[in-house]
Amino acid sequence: MRTQVLIIGGGPSGLLLAQLLDRKGIDTIVLERKTRSYVLGRIRAGILEQGMVKLMRKAGVSERMDRESYVHDGTVIACGDEQFRIDFTKHTGTPVVVYGQTELTCDLYDAREAADGEIIYEVEHVEINDAKSDRPYVTFQKDGIAQRIDCDYVAGCDGFHGVSRQTIPLTVRKEYEKVYPFGWLGILSETPPVHHELIYSSSERGFALCSMRNDNLSRYYIQCSLSDRPDDWSDQLFWDELKRRIPSDYADKLVTGPSIEKSIAPLRSFVTEPMRWGRLFLCGDAAHIVPPTGAKGLNTAASDIHYLYHGLVQAIHDNNNEGIDRYSERALARVWKAERFSWWMTSLLHRFPEQNAFDLKMQSAELAFLQSNNEAQSALAQNYVGLPY
Ligand code: APR
Ligand code: PHB
Repeated sequence: MRTQVLIIGGGPSGLLLAQLLDRKGIDTIVLERKTRSYVLGRIRAGILEQGMVKLMRKAGVSERMDRESYVHDGTVIACGDEQFRIDFTKHTGTPVVVYGQTELTCDLYDAREAADGEIIYEVEHVEINDAKSDRPYVTFQKDGIAQRIDCDYVAGCDGFHGVSRQTIPLTVRKEYEKVYPFGWLGILSETPPVHHELIYSSSERGFALCSMRNDNLSRYYIQCSLSDRPDDWSDQLFWDELKRRIPSDYADKLVTGPSIEKSIAPLRSFVTEPMRWGRLFLCGDAAHIVPPTGAKGLNTAASDIHYLYHGLVQAIHDNNNEGIDRYSERALARVWKAERFSWWMTSLLHRFPEQNAFDLKMQSAELAFLQSNNEAQSALAQNYVGLPY
């Protein structure tokens, strides 16, 4: 088989790239290790920067997003019983869009199928070959049968545990990592959101986040120990702990109910450099991970796709390699800013086991400065709504 751009990974990064390139008449094949329903079974965040929203529009996949999503002009930061609002529109003129990553990925799958886009599911033993030549090819097994696809470019959109990053030799690859000493216990409940905007809450018992998917589907998170298991937390225990970590006026009106999903996610900051090796380009979680506190995971994957899409169109249509030659540098420049913001939000709003009294004073002084300073709030707003591409 042959294609122009072989995309490894059928998550939001790979599907968005395939859809954008297809609309430019560029042929792609997507290899996905799992089934469609498995991929859509993963609950992920749901805050979209304008950059991601514009890419979905450019991809022609925005109808349901525009119909069902929420537009948020701000968010609430709470510390103990105190709270203040970050007004995105006042500081940046730009809101964020609340639309679940699962819904977005589902829309992209529907669009690929409507366009007869080729997706090969349940592939195994994927190997990228000759990425440093101008004739790369990928081998894999499907239903136990060995297959090979020749291509001009390979996009590694296969997430943190994929094969693409591992293909770049360790002599070339430099990795940066910070693992946080806690996780996020998240639940999904068919209850009305406690507030019409997100609440990021720092409390002496640890962090909490109140988010939503729709008028009767809420998403809540609390900071938990990495040794915890979801089964250690009954719904009642979760709700009681959440109420202790948010301002009492929200705790009093919180509608509780049975959780329909409950999971624990570890928190990690991770970046690999470079994001290009010959004809192989890494995108999204394959190259970088952020802790979810800044809602940057999907949005940074989107900026990677923006740079790679434009670079590939330029290379394939105009025989001009400027975009792909500068892909790694441009993508990483924005990735590191998203990494800094996500690390800063995580450091500001969580309790760390090794913190001493002085550290706690530093945190509360930073929160007090943020609460009282317009420029500090503006800096948070600019990073949260998304820095320019
Ligand atoms: N071969 C084929 N597919 C693979 C392989 C492989 N060897 N390894 C992994 N995959 C698939 C996974 O099954 C998954 O569906 O690649 C896909 C990667 O998707 P994601 O992990 O969602 O990564 P990405 O598309 O970059 O999306 C980034 O996901 O985790 C969130 O916070 C993150 O929001 C961000 C978004
Ligand atoms: C979510 O809605 O799941 C969500 C929102 C904001 C975050 C993280 C997760 O920062």
